[in-house]
Amino acid sequence: MSITCVIGLQWGDEGKGKIVDLLSRDSDYVVRYQGGSNAGHTVVLGKEKFVLHIIPSGILHPGVKCVIANGVVFDPRQFLGELDGLKKKGIRIKKNLYISDRAHLVFPYHKAIDGIRESRLGKKKIGTTGLGIGPCYSDKFARTGIRVIDLFNPALFKERLQVNLSEKNVVISAGGGKPLSTQDIYQQYLHYARQIKPYVTDTRLMLEDALRRKKRILLEGAQGSLLDIDFGTYPFVTSSNADACGISSGAGISARKIDKITGVLKAYATRVGEGPFPTELNDALGENLRRIGGEYGATTGRPRRCGWLDLVAAKYSAQLNDIDSIAITKLDVLSHLKKIKVAVAYKYNGKTIHEFPAAVEALARCRPVYRELPGWQADISGINRYNDLSVAARKYLDFISQHLGVPIGIVSVGAERKRFLIKR
Ligand code: GDP
Ligand code: IMO
Ligand code: MG
Repeated sequence: MSITCVIGLQWGDEGKGKIVDLLSRDSDYVVRYQGGSNAGHTVVLGKEKFVLHIIPSGILHPGVKCVIANGVVFDPRQFLGELDGLKKKGIRIKKNLYISDRAHLVFPYHKAIDGIRESRLGKKKIGTTGLGIGPCYSDKFARTGIRVIDLFNPALFKERLQVNLSEKNVVISAGGGKPLSTQDIYQQYLHYARQIKPYVTDTRLMLEDALRRKKRILLEGAQGSLLDIDFGTYPFVTSSNADACGISSGAGISARKIDKITGVLKAYATRVGEGPFPTELNDALGENLRRIGGEYGATTGRPRRCGWLDLVAAKYSAQLNDIDSIAITKLDVLSHLKKIKVAVAYKYNGKTIHEFPAAVEALARCRPVYRELPGWQADISGINRYNDLSVAARKYLDFISQHLGVPIGIVSVGAERKRFLIKR
């Protein structure tokens, strides 16, 4: 297998960072192809915790080349901060990190406008990370974006920045904000340009060359399929294709070349931000999942909404991405439960449905139809062989696999790097 992808099957935070770190052992390149620093991917090595936002989660493996491809919206300030944090923790970064010259840049005006739009929406807000992701992608598609490569043509960069700010400052002023200075941003970004220059390259060309040399490429999806701009719970989504659909445009790799897609599925469900969530538990059970699972946003620190596993949604994501195998994460978090519920259908307008609706208004009115399965009530976090899991735990996994019609490949039973099982 030369091209493998890791895709979240829920609303993000499935544990993609942990799975990518694991699969990085068998990869030469790890590539982020969409999203930006709205992502928060956690990897735990012993007692040390790393949260990667824009740098691929393969960076903790010295031999792996990490690529921030063209489809990512690139915030140089966040990037440089993250790089510094990694270096301080003793991670060596030398000729193993690349940034696409075609990636679009996130500017302070994107963040300002993200905030203004959200406050204007009031109760109907999306609950974004506030990092300017939506406004930056909007500019990309409106053809007014500024790309990494533009930083190296200062006259052109300044001209584009001026044009953009003349429009953005109107919005910022109307939103009650302080207009931003072209000169300040210009100087600041030229300073960033000097710092990021050693990493900037044509990443598409680099990956093409890597494929020719039979190198193994791992594509690291950010967010999750239900946050996808086309197939997610629109408008409560992010602004990129957070499923496998985004790979071709986001990395410049033909869809024909993808060999394997692993879908990451948390053993229960979480969501940060607003939007419908049929299996949400607004009770002590939900609070327990949040506490035991440590369900607080890796980027914003916000408490994550928690609920039962939703197999209607997971099946939709599994089909959408045509996944080859499932990586189940956080199975250990369910160990205290006597009984575990999973949604297998929805009740909508008096009918039982198995399809994930396109309209959020419909999804908000769907009531889950649950199957109840016995819990295992034993600590499984120290188990490292699949067959050592109790019968009840294996039955839970088999139920998921059968319902989705996809085999389970990896089961994660703890945050730490070594806490996983391979199902053979
Ligand atoms: P990502 O965005 O998909 O990479 O996921 P996050 O890092 O935002 O959230 C997953 C959280 O669960 C992180 O704190 C991980 O360290 C943690 N985690 C990952 N896998 C497991 C697991 O199997 N068990 C437990 N208890 N925690 C896990
Ligand atoms: P990882 O990669 C979970 C959510 C936000 C909000 C919506 C839009 O760690 O799984 P945005 O700032 O992207 O415009 O916000 O998307 N969101 C995430 N939720 N995990 C993420 O990334 C997310 N990235 C964005 O909370 O609801
Ligand atoms: Mg996350």
